[in-house]
Amino acid sequence: MSRETVYIRDLAGHVGQRVELQGWLFHKRSSGKVKFLVLRDGTGYLQCVAFRNDVSPELFDRCDRVPLESSIRVAGVVRKDDRAPGGHELGLDELAVIHQAEEYPIQPKEHGVDFLFDLRHLYLRSRTPRAVLGVRNEVVQACRDFFYGRGFVLIDSPILTPAACEGTTTLFETDYFDQTAYLAQSGQLYLEPACMAFGKVYCFGPTFRAEKSKTRRHLTEFWMVEPEVAFLELPGLMELAEQFLEHLVGRVLERCPEELKFLERDVSRLESVRAPFPRLTYDEAAAILLEDRAQERMKEAGAPPFVRGNDFGGLDETLLTERFDRPVMVTHWPTAIKAFYMQPDPGNPSQALCLDVLAPEGYGEIIGGSQRIHDHDLLLRRIEEHGLPVEAFRWYLDIRRYGTVPHSGFGMGIERFVAWMCGIPHIRETIPYPRQIHRLYP
Ligand code: 4AD
Ligand code: MG
Repeated sequence: MSRETVYIRDLAGHVGQRVELQGWLFHKRSSGKVKFLVLRDGTGYLQCVAFRNDVSPELFDRCDRVPLESSIRVAGVVRKDDRAPGGHELGLDELAVIHQAEEYPIQPKEHGVDFLFDLRHLYLRSRTPRAVLGVRNEVVQACRDFFYGRGFVLIDSPILTPAACEGTTTLFETDYFDQTAYLAQSGQLYLEPACMAFGKVYCFGPTFRAEKSKTRRHLTEFWMVEPEVAFLELPGLMELAEQFLEHLVGRVLERCPEELKFLERDVSRLESVRAPFPRLTYDEAAAILLEDRAQERMKEAGAPPFVRGNDFGGLDETLLTERFDRPVMVTHWPTAIKAFYMQPDPGNPSQALCLDVLAPEGYGEIIGGSQRIHDHDLLLRRIEEHGLPVEAFRWYLDIRRYGTVPHSGFGMGIERFVAWMCGIPHIRETIPYPRQIHRLYP
């Protein structure tokens, strides 16, 4: 890209030179003798300084009159300044207003969450979104690099689908000419045929859940990355999941130090995320949750007590993970509460060969996956038992008729992972335009 102005990120190569930059007025303050304007250009923040004695009276006054978030072009000499954010300062000698902003609604003071997300199109300009979405950018790239580097082939799965993957209660329905279509809950069903064609595959795209839950971990539209591998069984799947997470955390630590610092993330909590991760079966995890100590905590928090055979609640996940310094892998869940496609353990069919990975620090389930049923008749039976329309799954069953093999995969929700990396409480911050039960605007 050729342009005459420089980006703030590139200023190190321009110390002592006069440069032009363009961006938006992020912040300003002044005293009698000096004006400070902070320029924001998306790559960083730059303090521009004008001393009364160095610039024309007209320019000195103009500094005061530019409203916040106006688009501006500035020029001046770059100085190294270790105290300044980003390490540089500009001796301002020119200031042109490209567009004078109206009074900007977002002030540095505290605003309510609803106010900020009603203005998400503007709130994106603030520092927290910049840092969090910067981490997201790195995480997405790291996912792609991980799978590409290991020879996985990207298979984009469809968003408009004729059937459910993760249960029929959270489907978004839409008219598809004279049929009904559903927005994809997962790309998994489409990856399974693809892994029989390409060996190792992954998909990465938006997925949809008509979840009625209003928790800080749920969105109705979120991005999921899902690998699927032929001839892979549960032990190999666990290794893949822990190597994947170790890779992602390492990349965030290495490439997002500025963002993590701004977010005041305790990085020591991330540095300990090294494979191997602790492994628990569902029964072992249940035993922990049934200890007096854990049941006491549930009572104190007013949460329903954990009952063996049930899924874990948010507090249950927190109680399980707080005794470890890295993610915990929970396997062998009751078949009865898991998806229809999960392979029952041949030695004990009441348990599924599946895996949930729970993140530390209360971030909960970030990965869900399993070995898949590869026997045609068993799968057909499970589809029927779950009351699913067999016709819609003909193609999926077909895979079990031509060279069927054990295969496994998992899905990771990008937003939950990013929330954990950033140490922020709610996942709505981790996606540019969150979709929740009560949020479809902007
Ligand atoms: O456990 P889930 O439902 O698994 C699947 O969809 C499988 N078909 C994936 C597979 O095996 N290929 O979802 C996987 C992950 C969860 O662990 C969580 O990180 C995320 O997707 N997730 C959500 N993230 C945000 N909002 C929601 N409503 C989510 N539901 C699931
Ligand atoms: Mg799950």
